[in-house]
Amino acid sequence: MNYYKISFSLSRIFLLSAFTFTINLSFAQKTAISLKSAYQDDFLIGTALGTEHILEKNEKANALIKREFNAITPENIMKAQVIHPAPNRYNFTLADKYVEYGQKNQMYVVGHTLVWHSQLPPFVFKISNPDSLRIFMTEHINTVAGRYAGKINSWDVVNEALNEDGSLRKSVFLNKLGEGYIKEAFLLAAKADPKAALYYNDYNIEQPAKRKGAIELIKKLQASGVKIDGVGIQGHWSINTLNLKDIEDSILEFSALGIKIAFTELDLTVLPNPWDLQGADVNQRFEEKPEMNPYKDALPDSVQTVLANRYTDLFKLFLKHKDKISRITFWGVDDNHSWLNGFPIRNRTNYPLLFDRLLEPKKAYQAVLNLKIAK
Ligand code: G3I
Repeated sequence: MNYYKISFSLSRIFLLSAFTFTINLSFAQKTAISLKSAYQDDFLIGTALGTEHILEKNEKANALIKREFNAITPENIMKAQVIHPAPNRYNFTLADKYVEYGQKNQMYVVGHTLVWHSQLPPFVFKISNPDSLRIFMTEHINTVAGRYAGKINSWDVVNEALNEDGSLRKSVFLNKLGEGYIKEAFLLAAKADPKAALYYNDYNIEQPAKRKGAIELIKKLQASGVKIDGVGIQGHWSINTLNLKDIEDSILEFSALGIKIAFTELDLTVLPNPWDLQGADVNQRFEEKPEMNPYKDALPDSVQTVLANRYTDLFKLFLKHKDKISRITFWGVDDNHSWLNGFPIRNRTNYPLLFDRLLEPKKAYQAVLNLKIAK
């Protein structure tokens, strides 16, 4: 073999091994580094699933969900309107699939939600006497929480029972059953599924007045011997008004009650909010105007950066208090599938999550990941 032949063979071997190394490296980057693996020693990283995700309709979305998240919440399909559409009629098809999806992928499975004034089936509003409403609530919790006992890791037992000033919301439940309905709901859930962690879930409870109301509510439940394991701070916030001090104060104050904190519905709107609206009251809707939809075609890089910085600030805070936090769940998988495209103004283009409309990671994703892999 002459010199030229030897050197040609050697360079082929070198090129081949360099190529193999490149392939391996990019494969490792794609598989090993993900939100759930980066934060595995800190808290669970969750996402809210829509019907299309539960039915595994889109291969890319499905792969992304399994790669990045180890906790799931059903965005809509376990709400009473869907799962219990008529008296004595339940529709478990999607909920069964949701729970199976979580189990087969070894995910932490959240139940959302047992008692909520919104998305109730119409028949509930026709109930006129308190006893019948109590029967509805009791049967609903027994049947739904009972069916998935041992398979749901945590339930949002009562959702959004408070007004912004911290007083109790005058919901159909409060009006007919009095404030004791919250305790009743927790007792029923604990009996129906003794193993599930039980949470009170609400938006804006990081803000002082509403937080005070939530703390009173939780203290009352605890004083009456009711099992409550945690509080869900929803986290529907804005890149323009994110208030880290309120969030940190709430982490400290809620955790002083001896319960865990989960951020259950995290997203950061990048769009203007009419009248500086905050929160997630689904009854609030506003006019569609072009100036309220400034990033119809694309999100400018400068705003991507602001979004990434806000997420960095938040996750730094979450990491600082990781011993008090059980889970951070994003309210949706990608920007296309976010409720914020339709709220509080319909037909807008919002960019509140870590994955874009093509299911590709955004600058904000890298920023959240960098907090862990840069160390
Ligand atoms: O299912 C119907 C469909 O049949 C119909 O064709 C379509 C037409 O508009 O509506 C569909 O229902 C919509 C449902 O989402 C499912 O997509 C409702 O109109 C719509 O109001 C509903 O919005 C949900 C909202 O809760 C109200 O319940 C959002 O997707 C969901 O993200 C949002 O989630 C809540 C949490 O549960 C609690 N905290 C606040 C959070 C944001 O509002």
